[in-house]
Amino acid sequence: MNHSTRTYDSVLDLLPSEHNPTPIVRINALAPVPGFTLFAKLEWMNPFGSVKDRAAWEMIQDLEARGVLSPQRPEKGLVEPTSGNTGLSLAAICGVRGYPMRAVVPSKVPAEKKMLLKLFGAELDVVSDALCPLPGSEDGSVGLARTYARAQSDKYAMPNQYENRANVAAHVRTTGPEIWRQTEGRVTHVFTTLGTCGTVTGLATFLKQKNPKVKIIAVQPSPGHDIPGVRNMLELEVTRLYDPSLIDEVIEVDFKRAYPTVAELCRREGLMAGPSSALIFEGARQYLRREHEAKRLPVAEGGAGAGVGVMIFCDSVLKYMSNLAKHLPQIAEA
Ligand SMILES: Cc1ncc(COP(=O)(O)O)c(C=O)c1O
Repeated sequence: MNHSTRTYDSVLDLLPSEHNPTPIVRINALAPVPGFTLFAKLEWMNPFGSVKDRAAWEMIQDLEARGVLSPQRPEKGLVEPTSGNTGLSLAAICGVRGYPMRAVVPSKVPAEKKMLLKLFGAELDVVSDALCPLPGSEDGSVGLARTYARAQSDKYAMPNQYENRANVAAHVRTTGPEIWRQTEGRVTHVFTTLGTCGTVTGLATFLKQKNPKVKIIAVQPSPGHDIPGVRNMLELEVTRLYDPSLIDEVIEVDFKRAYPTVAELCRREGLMAGPSSALIFEGARQYLRREHEAKRLPVAEGGAGAGVGVMIFCDSVLKYMSNLAKHLPQIAEA
């Protein structure tokens, strides 16, 4: 592979690393406050379209390293409870490796994601569940996936992104170092969401080691939200990867704001950000305006702004047209 000419032997060589980072792009027209440089990290530029490529690849490499999966025994594959993106990344990588893949998804997952999972060869179980898998209940998607992994252990291993430390390790190895290098160590704030919390815990672990003053701001949707992939704090008990000691502040945003903001980001910045990215932008905007007014943002010598923020834009809007049709009916009209 050659990153400078972008010539590759396999699609898996495109998976991100410090030397093959996803781009960060500055917010211009919608910059929330003067003197603060805010970047969006475009995770939809990953080969399978979302931030979850990182965790999926790390979890599969870990299972291969431990001999649980092997290209020499491709009849054994994976089963995973997923709201879509992890399943899609796992299914794509499994396809390349020759492993079977079964995804257990909550019924509210957008139709586009279910279709994509099938397109990539995953077998699908759709369970009536919350938007993200719920803990405990054996009829929920976590329980069903676990049942498959136990009853058919010769066919399925379950990575379990909610407990798997490889999910965190992916972001310690890739997302954190990428942000550090791309901002030349000048990053002061990172804005992210809470899902499995692999992203926030991993990148915060790395960046706070580099500079303990880096602020990690998590944006959560208001309760009752319908934004796939993310959680309100009330829904976090399912994950073992949440570490509040690494998070400086959690900002809550009315989830309905995310949908008009999706349109705003498309129209003013040309960024085809999905609803969870728009939620993060909305949280960053609220946070930065408040901190600017309180004069708490970093200032360089001579009074110029010195703040550099990076928002993790988890995936693109393309998979959420059915959600958008509900919240922005005017764009669904022929
Ligand atoms: C669209 C989207 N946004 C945000 C997240 C949250 O990322 P994490 O699970 O690393 O907390 C996910 C996770 O699945 C996602 O699919």
